[in-house]
Amino acid sequence: MGKGKVYKIGVIPGDGVGPEIISAGLEVLKSAAKRFSFSLETINYDFGGERYLRTGETLPDSAIEEFKKLDAIYLGAIGHPDVKPGILEKGILLKIRFELDQYINLRPVKLYPGVWTPLKDKGPQDIDYVVVRENTEGAYCGIGGTFKKGSQDEIATQLDINTRKGVERCVRYAFELAKKRNKKKTVTCVDKANVLTFSGDLWRRTCQDVQKEYPEIKLDYAFVDATCMWMVKNPEWFDVLVTNNMFGDIITDLAAITQGGLGVAAGGNINPHGVSMFEPIHGSAPKYTGKNVICPIATIAAGGMMLETLGEKEAAECIEKAICKALSEGHIKSLEAGKMGMGTSEVGTLIAKFVSEI
Ligand code: IPM
Ligand code: MN
Repeated sequence: MGKGKVYKIGVIPGDGVGPEIISAGLEVLKSAAKRFSFSLETINYDFGGERYLRTGETLPDSAIEEFKKLDAIYLGAIGHPDVKPGILEKGILLKIRFELDQYINLRPVKLYPGVWTPLKDKGPQDIDYVVVRENTEGAYCGIGGTFKKGSQDEIATQLDINTRKGVERCVRYAFELAKKRNKKKTVTCVDKANVLTFSGDLWRRTCQDVQKEYPEIKLDYAFVDATCMWMVKNPEWFDVLVTNNMFGDIITDLAAITQGGLGVAAGGNINPHGVSMFEPIHGSAPKYTGKNVICPIATIAAGGMMLETLGEKEAAECIEKAICKALSEGHIKSLEAGKMGMGTSEVGTLIAKFVSEI
């Protein structure tokens, strides 16, 4: 942090609605930069489905080397209806997460005031927790294969890799976060230790070991299936949840809908010692492409997380306040695509204006 600081941000708008939401997000970020006297040097990258269809290239290794010189990456969405599932996800998104060792996928679950939740009798005071999802291993490591493919004897394997190092750094991040949040001071280890006994045991023992360094933080355990139920029934029980890559992916879509939907759910792919990447957790929503109807708040909030990680705390808080103002004062009617009562770009402009004024 500091006045006059210049941050080099790699921008990957990506596919579908990605460019629209990123442009709204950048408008807000620029407004914050102006107000808090720092600047953003953005470098645009056209990685995504269109480029892949044109050139056959997903993400070259040279881009990873360039990314290593950035301060952060701001990503819209990756996914194209004409590209077979897995190619872009693995070739771009997961490649960045893995190669830049962004070992934390940080997903705050926060119901903003004025936002409708499908959870009965729950309000902003009840839905405020963070999922710390392990982001570089587990079932996502891409180890496995097929045998006798296409035959009746076909076999498919997909390994779930859990390393002590990978689990421990993730768990430690979760404890640090619970301490920093200073709310319920609880870390809940979400696993399936009653069936996945080997990985479950590693996660639980690691949590117990790390907890010794954080006597003020309580450690809880919850099975992932039961967690889904409690996220709906008693979200107020949670503070910081820590879990593996696959479980974290699944529960954060459920969590997103409890906070009003994918239109507001933001995420950070964090390497605390390297280059992190920020994105809305929703996909490229191809059917809404170019229609200026999708809610950009998730992307704007992801931009806020980016500033927070860069050390621009005040600017991050200001973005958060501006989002709250836009939502609580009823400027935005709904977070659903096409029902906002204004366009994607107008929401960006409104929040950018609030950022300059609040
Ligand atoms: C997410 C997404 C990705 C994931 C996909 C697009 C690979 O669902 O960020 O949650 O599974 O991690
Ligand atoms: Mn997901």
